[in-house]
Amino acid sequence: MLEAKGIYKSYGTLAILKGIDLHVAKGEIVSLVGASGAGKSTLLHIIGTLDRPDRGTLVIDGTNIDKLSTKQLSAFRNAHIGFVFQFHHLLPEFTALENVCIPAFIKRVDRKAAEHRASELLELLGVSHRSAHKPGEMSGGEQQRVAVARALVNNPAIVLADEPSGNLDSENATALHQLFVELRAQLNQTFVVVTHNEELANIADRIVHIKDGQIEPGQAQ
Ligand SMILES: Nc1ncnc2c1ncn2[C@@H]1O[C@H](COP(=O)(O)OP(=O)(O)O)[C@@H](O)[C@H]1O
Ligand SMILES: [Mg+2]
Repeated sequence: MLEAKGIYKSYGTLAILKGIDLHVAKGEIVSLVGASGAGKSTLLHIIGTLDRPDRGTLVIDGTNIDKLSTKQLSAFRNAHIGFVFQFHHLLPEFTALENVCIPAFIKRVDRKAAEHRASELLELLGVSHRSAHKPGEMSGGEQQRVAVARALVNNPAIVLADEPSGNLDSENATALHQLFVELRAQLNQTFVVVTHNEELANIADRIVHIKDGQIEPGQAQ
């Protein structure tokens, strides 16, 4: 599902990623851990096509990303990659249902089909009773579930999450982690999750440690 080879990235003279190789199979949950500043978010942004590497190749769901123009890349990202961040980034003026629909509207899915899919997901994630509510009327745990529904609405090849439970209390964090496992069981969804949370790291099939811009040796890639 994901194949990154020889990924390098520097900011100015500061080398952040120094030859990262990462392979993720369909339906796999991989957690990325490492000290603050190790380059986890940088790697996730590159995998998510939000940023380009200085060197290296990236194949997602069979498509070689290096060859796409900026415009093609936006369309590819919208259709194939779902994002969950530490802060939900839901749009405050829109309801939960509308927020979940937005990536589908960008993909030009018709309104009825988008709303149908969004409703299904809100149901699956246990927040269908919040469909008509705006983010400000929901708890942190509910907001993050809506953000997960939004990440899933276009049936992405891969969901990338950066500290998704970093802003939740432990009960909501545990529920969110459980949700990732359920989504993998039900949808065979592939996840790459950056986390400091040991519980979340441990539910993954594989924990990849990043140190000094490289994947720590001795790990299956
Ligand atoms: N856009 C940027 N410009 C310059 N330096 C950056 C930029 N983004 C990240 N960095 C630096 O790259 C390093 C790795 O950052 P990051 O990937 O966010 O680490 P992590 O997510 O592992 O904490 C840090 O030293 C950070 O300051
Ligand atoms: Mg980070």
